[in-house]
Order: sequence, then C-alpha cells, then structure tokens
Amino acid sequence: MRPDVAVVGAGPIGLAIAWRCAARGMSVVVHDPAPGSGASDVAAGMLAPVAEAYFGEEELTSLLVASAARWPGFADELSRAAGAEVGYRTDGTLVVALTSDDVAEAERLWTYQRGLGLPISVLRPADLRAREPGLSPRVRGGGYAPDDHQVDPRRLVVALRVAAARAGVRVEPTAVTDLSTVDAGVVVVAAGLGAAALTGLPVRPVKGQVLRLRAPDGAPPGFRHVIRGYADQRHVYLVPRTDGEVVVGATVEERLDDTVTAGAVLDLLRAATDLLPEIAEYQLTETRVGWRPGTPDNAPIIGALPGRPGVVVATGHYRHGIVLTPLTADLVADLVSTGVPDPALDPFGPARFTTDPN
Ligand code: GLY
Repeated sequence: MRPDVAVVGAGPIGLAIAWRCAARGMSVVVHDPAPGSGASDVAAGMLAPVAEAYFGEEELTSLLVASAARWPGFADELSRAAGAEVGYRTDGTLVVALTSDDVAEAERLWTYQRGLGLPISVLRPADLRAREPGLSPRVRGGGYAPDDHQVDPRRLVVALRVAAARAGVRVEPTAVTDLSTVDAGVVVVAAGLGAAALTGLPVRPVKGQVLRLRAPDGAPPGFRHVIRGYADQRHVYLVPRTDGEVVVGATVEERLDDTVTAGAVLDLLRAATDLLPEIAEYQLTETRVGWRPGTPDNAPIIGALPGRPGVVVATGHYRHGIVLTPLTADLVADLVSTGVPDPALDPFGPARFTTDPN
C-alpha cells in the first residue's frame, strides 16, 4: 500500500523523522540498504550548542540551542519507547587550553559565545583540575559549558530503529537513486551526503578521522566531562562513555577519501595525551573515517524542495546532526502533517540554494 510518508535514509535524522511521523498517525516506510552506516556511525555524539557556536553563525546557533533543549525529553521518551538507553550524559563540557597561545585562541571564541548569552564560564587551572584531576598540570586555562552534553550515536540509532518499528515504521533495505521511483504521499530526503545526488542541493563531504580508545581492565575512563582541547594549535575532543570507551576526534578535511592517515592519528593522540596523559595507557580500538554532510553556509537544509511537489529535505547537518536530531524530526513531522513550515525553518530552507523561486 502507498505510505503517507517515505523517508530516504535511516540515520538518526531519518529514523527520528519516521518515528515522529508515525506518532502523528501517518504510515511510514524508510528506505536504506544499510541503516545507521553513515556519519552517525563515526560521530562522537557531542551535543554542543555552546562549544560549537562559531563566529558568524548566530542563526545556526539558535537552532542548536533550541534542539539541545529538547534532548532531555527526547532521550527520556526514546529510551522508554525502545526499552534501551542511548548514553545521554549531562556532565557538561570542559574547554581546556594547553599553552598561553591556546588560551588566547580559546578566549576569543568563548568571549564571543558569552556575548551571545551562552553559558560558558572561565575556569582557572586549579578549578579545571578540581573538576578533572587527570588533566595535565601543563594546562594553562579553560572554561566550563554546563549545557553541552553527550549521547552515544550508535545506541541512538539502535533505539530509534526499535522505537520506530514499535510505532509501525517499516524499513526497506532498498537504495533509492531516483526520487521519482518512490511512491508515497510525501518523500523526505534525509540521506545526508546522498541528498546531493538525489536533489542537486550543494551537500559536500567533509572528512573526519575519529579514534576510539578503551580504558584498561573494563574500568570507566578516568574523566567524566567531554573535553574539548586546544593543544599547541591542535584541536581535539575526548568523549568518555560509562562503558570505558573514549572517542577522540576529529580532523576536518575537504576530502572524500577514506584513508586513515598516520599524521592525523599522531596529531589527535598527541593533543589528547598532552591534555590527559593517562590516555596513553588506553587501548586503541578503532580508527575510522566519516564524512559530514556540509553546506556552503554550514547550516542544515530543511524544508520543501522548490519545484518538486511532495518532496521535503532534511540534510546538510554538517557537524551538528546528532544535536539537531530532535528538533529536525519535530519540525519535519509538523511540516509533513500540516503542509506549513514552522517559522523557525525560515533561514534553513532549500530555496537559499535553488534557482526555482517557489
Ligand atoms: N561535531 C563534531 C565534529 O564534527 O567533529
């Protein structure tokens, strides 16, 4: 039977849209030959509306803040619907800087962030080490972003698949290469990078190399905050999971190749161990490459596709796919069910990249 909604792409965004549409009473099919195998399988899962608020991206930052605010309720509802935890943790994020040059660089950004009214407080080295005793004594300064949390994207996908299935969503292992072959009331393109070929929208791959480590003897990592570090001009983040895993990332490269390079691993591990020396004793369990779906203005593309009746897109989430999952899903489900876009979507519509004025 022809479904009300077909979603192309079973990453967190596509699955969450499907789940939310099903909750509104729509029949939903999701198409993906390999659910959860895209950027989310590599992503660290930082929910960072503050630490990833960058110069000149105020509208995007507002969207990140609004979506982050939905995370507590979303994680709770999803965990109950799926009967599975998603690794949502609220210990907050420490921004740490190794040298005085690193402090100066970090300070420029957190001064801007504080100017936007975002919660980030400056901490002295002694205060940083009181929060994380494992930090190197060489760390010169830092800040604390209490509202920047984390979730485990791999658990998130598992939970979304279960919750969506329980809500009646069907997942078809089919690869969609032409939207005209999909028969549904509305087609939602949530295919990350794949949206470029399907829609012609300017979504490009931004390569990220990411490592996974594991604390010795099955113990949890010796730190509990997400650490975002500046270490001798190198940028790094470390995300501790309660099961002992630590995600270390990430490069940001305008490339499509899938090579894990010695230089990137060296840079990430040098920065990580400079900030948290105990990491050197951890097991290196995984080296991976993922591709963020980037757009020309770094902001996602969400809305009805001009000139293509019945096609809605939700792609281009770049570095923010996990934090933007709850809000994107709600806004797209509302759009699909009412046909009316929420004004919050005005800056993010596909029309900013198409020539069709409609
Ligand atoms: N948001 C983290 C990253 O893009 O690496």
